[in-house]
Amino acid sequence: MSTDKFFYEIPVLSSVANNMYNLASTTPNDQWIDYYAFKAIPVPIKYTVDSWWRRLYDLHPFKAGIIKIDENTYYDWHIDTDRGVGLNMLLNNWDTSHCLFNPKIQRGESVEIDNMTDKFIELKYKPNTYYLFNTQMTHSVYNFKDTRYLLTIDFFEDRTKLNYNQLLEEIKQERWFEQQLNKEQNDT
Ligand SMILES: [Fe+2]
Repeated sequence: MSTDKFFYEIPVLSSVANNMYNLASTTPNDQWIDYYAFKAIPVPIKYTVDSWWRRLYDLHPFKAGIIKIDENTYYDWHIDTDRGVGLNMLLNNWDTSHCLFNPKIQRGESVEIDNMTDKFIELKYKPNTYYLFNTQMTHSVYNFKDTRYLLTIDFFEDRTKLNYNQLLEEIKQERWFEQQLNKEQNDT
């Protein structure tokens, strides 16, 4: 099954993943706030972020944050309440955590006896790599070892105003990540 309707890998590597990981791993526990089922810290837009975020932010304002879950923890099948689309980068645990999509379970359905076993699709996060994420497809996370940190962007436009397919088309057409990099190269 094609994975395009679940996630899209941004084909330009991030240059800030290490900074983000350092920020996350050195932030004391008492500074993490509750955010849905996670603990989170905000990442100010002025923080050293990848340059193409500026263009994205101008068109679709967002807040950015790092969310964490503990080892041996799962985040069960769900569809995001408000978000139509997210932009994620996993900062560690590339091999010891798993993010799965379930193509069958729809909003409002739970796992019943007749759909207890079925195929899943894994988003196998790679280091330094962003993924556009369809938060309206049922997904779950299993984290086996060590605290897992994920950089995630939450757009102010909710799922009624901005969805995955819309942003995917824009991103494929406009390719902001390349334009920004080219501009920087020309500037230097
Ligand atoms: Fe989610």
